Amino acid sequence: MFSEYRIHPALLLLLYCLLCSAGEEVVRLQELEGNTVTIHTGLTGVQSDAHILWFYGPENADIKIVNSLVFKGETNTDYPSERFRDRLQLNRTSGSLTIRNISREDYGVYKLQIITERTSVWSFSVDIYAPVLKPVIRNQAEKHSVTLRESCSPLCSVENGKDLSLSWYEEKERISSISSSDSSERLYLPLNKTNPNYSTYTCVAANPVSSQTTKLNITELCYNSTDPNEGDRMKLLVLIPVLIVALSLMLLAWVWKKKSKQQVPEDAELNYAVVKTKPQNSKEAHEANRAGVTEVQDQSESVLYSTIRT
Ligand SMILES: *[C@@H]1O[C@H](CO)[C@@H](O)[C@H](O)[C@H]1NC(C)=O
Ligand SMILES: *[C@@H]1O[C@H](CO)[C@@H](O)[C@H](O)[C@H]1NC(C)=O
Ligand SMILES: *[C@@H]1O[C@H](CO)[C@@H](O)[C@H](O)[C@H]1NC(C)=O
Ligand SMILES: *[C@@H]1O[C@H](CO)[C@@H](O)[C@H](O)[C@H]1NC(C)=O
Ligand SMILES: *[C@@H]1O[C@H](CO)[C@@H](O)[C@H](O)[C@H]1NC(C)=O
Ligand SMILES: *[C@@H]1O[C@H](CO)[C@@H](O)[C@H](O)[C@H]1NC(C)=O
Repeated sequence: MFSEYRIHPALLLLLYCLLCSAGEEVVRLQELEGNTVTIHTGLTGVQSDAHILWFYGPENADIKIVNSLVFKGETNTDYPSERFRDRLQLNRTSGSLTIRNISREDYGVYKLQIITERTSVWSFSVDIYAPVLKPVIRNQAEKHSVTLRESCSPLCSVENGKDLSLSWYEEKERISSISSSDSSERLYLPLNKTNPNYSTYTCVAANPVSSQTTKLNITELCYNSTDPNEGDRMKLLVLIPVLIVALSLMLLAWVWKKKSKQQVPEDAELNYAVVKTKPQNSKEAHEANRAGVTEVQDQSESVLYSTIRT
């Protein structure tokens, strides 16, 4: 039987795709989250009766997201993926796919397949970036010196993200830069100049699709507190409540100590030990005997009670 030797159609397709993906050029796209993104094919006149398919997957494009075919002169475009359905739009003339409100989860591989007499495949790798947040400039010296005038070391920081870099610019020239693959950690970059002059410094946070700039205002950051006594006044403002609290605590402690000395707490357990002592050769008894005093010594032994502290 010949049918047994026929190659299974699925195997044929697999072979075909191995061949097609070998020479396939992947177009890389970097997009901003929330944007409407069009994956352009560069084609202008796709055959009007072509069968157009789009596939998507984070690593391999294996989920069918667009299926558009012409049957008996009628075009039927279907968006089978629940996740993408309302956000996709196919342009049958170019094969281009428009994705509305793209999210970071939509990153991955998008594959276009156009089937006419032959099949053609295009692949796109799409990276989605969150918009960069505005960097914040603080004075690092703030923690150490009360009078800011003495030293000023601006520190720029921003919430980290994928492929994010943080840089200081002097005029148009980049003077330092930092980036970290650990997106969970905030990025910090000091302006490596103590007492910078008034030339224009800017701190720029950027990823491949967006950037944010914060201008350094040295007057505001470093010379804001122009009154040198202001620092001392601030010190006092902080010290007074601290002193009050400390004094109150000391007073409380003193009162408590005094009270606990005066009265024995009711529920405290008291242990008594009976210590019996015999008056041996008591001097008084001896002398009394000598003096002939016949005093009845009915206290042959005396008992002492003592509290044992536990
Ligand atoms: C579809 O793509 C073609 C070719 O790029 C373009 O001229 C046309 O305006 C597009 N149609 C729509 C509805 O965007
Ligand atoms: C865009 O998508 C996000 C979730 O990814 C959603 O919270 C937001 O409401 C959407 N915006 C629009 C305009 O549809
Ligand atoms: C800061 O500048 C000094 C010299 O100007 C240099 O030796 C030092 O490595 C720099 N530090 C950083 C973190 O760039
Ligand atoms: C500020 O510093 C830069 C380089 O550090 C220098 O080129 C510029 O002349 C300085 N400007 C003033 C007003 O000192
Ligand atoms: C810097 O800050 C001071 C004080 O807030 C302000 O008067 C000045 O205009 C600012 N300079 C610039 C260049 O923004
Ligand atoms: C100066 O610093 C104080 C806080 O220390 C702040 O409230 C004020 O807005 C600053 N002045 C300017 C001009 O930025």
